[in-house]
Amino acid sequence: MSKLKIAVQKSGRLYDESMQILKDIGISIDNGKEQLKASAKNFPLEVFYLRNGDIPQYLKDGVVDAAIIGENVLIEKGGEIQIVQKLGFSSCKVSIAVPKSAKYTSMQDLEGKRIATSYPNTVQQFLDKNNVNAQLHIINGSVEIAPNIGLADAIVDIVSSGSTLFKNGLKEVEVLLKSEAVLAASPLISDANLETLNIIKFRIESVLKGRR
Ligand code: PRP
Ligand code: MG
Repeated sequence: MSKLKIAVQKSGRLYDESMQILKDIGISIDNGKEQLKASAKNFPLEVFYLRNGDIPQYLKDGVVDAAIIGENVLIEKGGEIQIVQKLGFSSCKVSIAVPKSAKYTSMQDLEGKRIATSYPNTVQQFLDKNNVNAQLHIINGSVEIAPNIGLADAIVDIVSSGSTLFKNGLKEVEVLLKSEAVLAASPLISDANLETLNIIKFRIESVLKGRR
């Protein structure tokens, strides 16, 4: 029987709850994430522990059939990848923030400014929609430090508790999108694996109903 290959974030804020939801739907995984790949004991499933940002490409290429991933990452890099089911955890926003002392009344205040972000496509789309020209600086982590070290006038990053913004003396001024963890499918998934994925989706739906 063919096994469904599912990608899960290797490290980061989605990992624990991703493994928890698999457990909650009765799928027990053999190995820890040190293995990078693990099989379920009682279900036709293989788990691949991957870097968050790599997962959309693996889905597009059909290297994995499905993934548990943040909607924000799919929106940034996912293109036409289909969301099968929202998972109700790891909710966050992708927001613009500026130094607390900066004057901000509207998007026009960002005209000609420098924005640091790990979400260039999402930001560029939002800028275009608002007819604002700004210079993007792409950095992969610790984005909130950029204004303090003189690298940027504003940042766009994930806001969850808001603690990182607060600690870096920044204030949220625009919300680009809201996001949560989702189950996503590769456009190249086989019919047999799609059936397995639908069983997973069905079980997740009942677990989420029970949690409510
Ligand atoms: C993430 C994200 C934000 C922060 C948001 O960073 O990039 O900086 O969490 O969460 P909060 O609103 O609850 O503070 P992370 O700590 O994962 O590190 P990284 O940016 O270096 O990847
Ligand atoms: Mg961060």
